[in-house]
Amino acid sequence: MPSIEQNKKRWNTYYDWKDKGNEWSSSWGGVDIQWYGTILPRIHRFIPTGTILEIAPGYGRWTEFLKEYCEQLIIVDLSEKCIEECQKRFSSCSNITYLVNDGKSLDMIADESIDFVFSFDSLVHAEKEVINSYLQQLSTKLTKNGVGFIHHSNLGEYSNYYSLLGKILRPLPRGKEFLRRKYQITDNPHWRESSMTAKNFEQYAKDTNLQCINQEIINWGSKNLIDCLSTFTKNNSKWKSNNRIMRNNKFMREAKYLKELSKLYGNRC
Ligand SMILES: C[S@@+](CC[C@H](N)C(=O)[O-])C[C@H]1O[C@@H](n2cnc3c(N)ncnc32)[C@H](O)[C@@H]1O
Repeated sequence: MPSIEQNKKRWNTYYDWKDKGNEWSSSWGGVDIQWYGTILPRIHRFIPTGTILEIAPGYGRWTEFLKEYCEQLIIVDLSEKCIEECQKRFSSCSNITYLVNDGKSLDMIADESIDFVFSFDSLVHAEKEVINSYLQQLSTKLTKNGVGFIHHSNLGEYSNYYSLLGKILRPLPRGKEFLRRKYQITDNPHWRESSMTAKNFEQYAKDTNLQCINQEIINWGSKNLIDCLSTFTKNNSKWKSNNRIMRNNKFMREAKYLKELSKLYGNRC
């Protein structure tokens, strides 16, 4: 959980998208500052490049930036509505290919054609089977020195914590807020996939001749390190190295600091 069907229903049908996903950048003070302050420093070594694949772009919050860092950009999402909106939003760009998939297939992409694959704030909602499937295919879709940067769930590491908390808090609808505030209990798993972990990702990569070169396990909207940013490449790539793992419990502090700075240096409009 959440399944591909639940993702499709949510993002293609009942999510209102009235702020085009920009609302998820509010903890950073805006989309621009989140890109330049948080995302770009983590991927700058790999871009600009030839062909970028963005998995799950939504309404194009990161597509807006990625399109400037490559000759060709391919975007693939399971939601037709999202891809149609991206087509409208980027209608003046000639270097973007738009694809709708079934939530796990990359069949429509040529082998050894992708220099950089990117996904941020999307596959945190994907089951481990989906991540495994994407990784298996990426091992053939990436070029020799191709690299991936994928944001995914690490909630599985906390499965006991969240299920116990659920059992304790569910019968206490009125005491819930009180307990949350008094003990700073975080019981919101942010619709993260409960089976996925950083360790799973590392293993799935290994199983398919890819390797993680770094994994930053981060807190997201809570004290718990429920997410992970995994960077990976092929076994024989020039980027290959041992996996460096960092448990970063200051990720939301970074967002807070950038939000302060955004008052001076913030968004283009
Ligand atoms: C929370 S939105 C984020 C969109 C964008 N990455 C952003 O940050 O603004 C999640 C997006 O992921 C897409 N998505 C979810 N699961 C997917 C999957 N298994 N394969 C492709 N797209 C998926 C949804 O359709 C939706 O567009």
